Amino acid sequence: MLLEIPQVLTPAQVNEARALLDAAAWIDGKATAGHQGAHVKDNLQLPVDSPVARQVGQMILKALSTNPLFMSAALPLHILPPMFNRYSGGQTFGTHVDGSIRVVPGTGQRLRTDLSCTLFFADPDEYDGGELIVEDTYGTKSVKLPAGHMILYPSTSLHQVTPVTRGTRLCSFFWLQSMIRDGGQRALLFDMDVAIQRLGAENPTHPSVVQLTGVYHNLLRQWAEV
Ligand code: NI
Repeated sequence: MLLEIPQVLTPAQVNEARALLDAAAWIDGKATAGHQGAHVKDNLQLPVDSPVARQVGQMILKALSTNPLFMSAALPLHILPPMFNRYSGGQTFGTHVDGSIRVVPGTGQRLRTDLSCTLFFADPDEYDGGELIVEDTYGTKSVKLPAGHMILYPSTSLHQVTPVTRGTRLCSFFWLQSMIRDGGQRALLFDMDVAIQRLGAENPTHPSVVQLTGVYHNLLRQWAEV
C-alpha cells in the first residue's frame, strides 16, 4: 500500500525546519549506503548524530504521534530516528531495495523495516526531477508531494529517486517496524478502521459501531507483535 499522509507538518514548521537544514553540515550519502546501494546512490545526507537531524526529527515524530491517518495505516511499533537527504545538480539514487534490518543508533536495538517514509521539505515547483519511483505490487508509482506531506510505502519495494536537474530536493526519510508484520493484514485493519470511523461519524449510536470496533481490536489482539 502506498499512502499519502498530507500536512504532517504545518507551513510554519516546514519553514523552521528548512532554516535549520539549510545551515547544517551535510555529508556524502554513500556513508550510510549498503553494498548494493553504494553503486547507485549520489546525494547528500545529514550525519545521524547531527543536532539538526535530532531536532527536526523530533518535530516529525511528535507530529506523527498525533496523526490519526498515519497511526491507523502504519500501526507503528518502533520508528527509526528520521534522517535527511538533499539532491541537486543531477544527483540521483538509482533502483535499490532498503535493508531489511536496521540498528537504532546509540541503542543497538534491531528493527525490521516494514514501511518506508519520505517527508518532503521542498515544493514540487522548486525543483525538476527528484520523483520517488516505487515499484509496488500493482505497478510503478511516481511520487512528488508538497512540502510538509509524507508518503508511506512498503519497504519491500524496489524504488529510486530520479535525477534532480534544477533546484534542490530536500526530504526526510526513515523506516518503521509495524505491530502488524504482514502488509495484507495491515491493509485489512486500515480499511476496517476507515469504515468504522465513517460509520461512527454518520451514525454514532448505531450498535454496529461498537461491535465492529470490538472486531477490529480483537483482530489486532490476534495479529499484533508488541
Ligand atoms: Ni531507499
